[in-house]
Amino acid sequence: MTILGIETSCDETAASICNDGEILSSVVSRQIIHSKFGGVVPEIASREHELLLNNVVNEALNQSKMNLSQLDAIAVTQGPGLAGTLLTGISFAKGLGIGLQIPVVPINHLEGHIFANFLAAKQLKYPFVCLLVSGGHTQLWLINGMEKYRLLGETRDDAAGEAFDKGARILGLGYPGGPEIEKLAENGNPSKVFFPRSLLSKDSLEFSFSGLKTSLLYFMDDFEETSEISINDVIASYQQAIIDTLIEKVRRALLYTNNETCVIAGGVAANKCLRNGLNITLPGKNIIYPDLAFCTDNAAMISYLGELKLKNKRLSPIDFSAIPNQKLE
Ligand code: KG4
Ligand code: ZN
Repeated sequence: MTILGIETSCDETAASICNDGEILSSVVSRQIIHSKFGGVVPEIASREHELLLNNVVNEALNQSKMNLSQLDAIAVTQGPGLAGTLLTGISFAKGLGIGLQIPVVPINHLEGHIFANFLAAKQLKYPFVCLLVSGGHTQLWLINGMEKYRLLGETRDDAAGEAFDKGARILGLGYPGGPEIEKLAENGNPSKVFFPRSLLSKDSLEFSFSGLKTSLLYFMDDFEETSEISINDVIASYQQAIIDTLIEKVRRALLYTNNETCVIAGGVAANKCLRNGLNITLPGKNIIYPDLAFCTDNAAMISYLGELKLKNKRLSPIDFSAIPNQKLE
């Protein structure tokens, strides 16, 4: 079975070809136009998708040495995401699907992030815990099977990715903030500045990052670099506070569910400090991450999950619409 995946939930225009569980190509075009605005401008993002989609899809087909007539279906992100950008991708997918007379499968972007872990660990067995950490979500899930998900805890305010992005803005760094902070933190000492870790009550599986962001804001108000504390020390300490919180919640979730396996999903899963920290803090646990290219937004996870949905007969009528605030349950 050969599936074309299309992802346009935010500012990445992405297409991928999946064939019998193997990713043959994954093309991602990041819209750099937004960096000068310090965040994604929805209207511009939709127009950029419109401009780029044809080329990105053609490139995915070329790289996989496939042509349109070999496609069995098209999988496309239905939500969550920006209404306009989702609609651009869905309209493109429907037009192509109707023209080729093949099914169009709507995919939940969050579910796509989770299933990207099967690309890294084919032998992954249910049930497992999932830490979903993206720009808009920070949640812990117990994954009992496809479409059998139980929410264990989530953030009360900002998402972890948002803590990176808003922190980067306070620090005068570019967007997206995660990779910028990670790069500069490599040259800093994470123990130099103490930032609060909001662990809430002792057993809580919930998160809160807004206090951390505010404490960075106040700290930067009268911070001046000295030979004692460099800006990179501040950045490393801020990153460490986010990472420590995530690791502690994963530890609690594994304990609470009596499970040994946790998969990490979403853009923040690309963070090496998180990856190393989990391995060091939770030795003996089975911690799984997607390949770096499949952590941040991509269409490989959409084409892969599209094929699974199709094989499990999860078909949808063609009149499905975008669901900007789509949930996982
Ligand atoms: O999953 P994703 O690409 O898009 C959403 O679905 O939201 O996640 C984007 C988020 C952004 O907040 C970005 O700053 C963060 O993931 N991110 C990172 C890293 N790469 C991306 N955060 C920390 N370290 C990274 N290396
Ligand atoms: Zn995402």
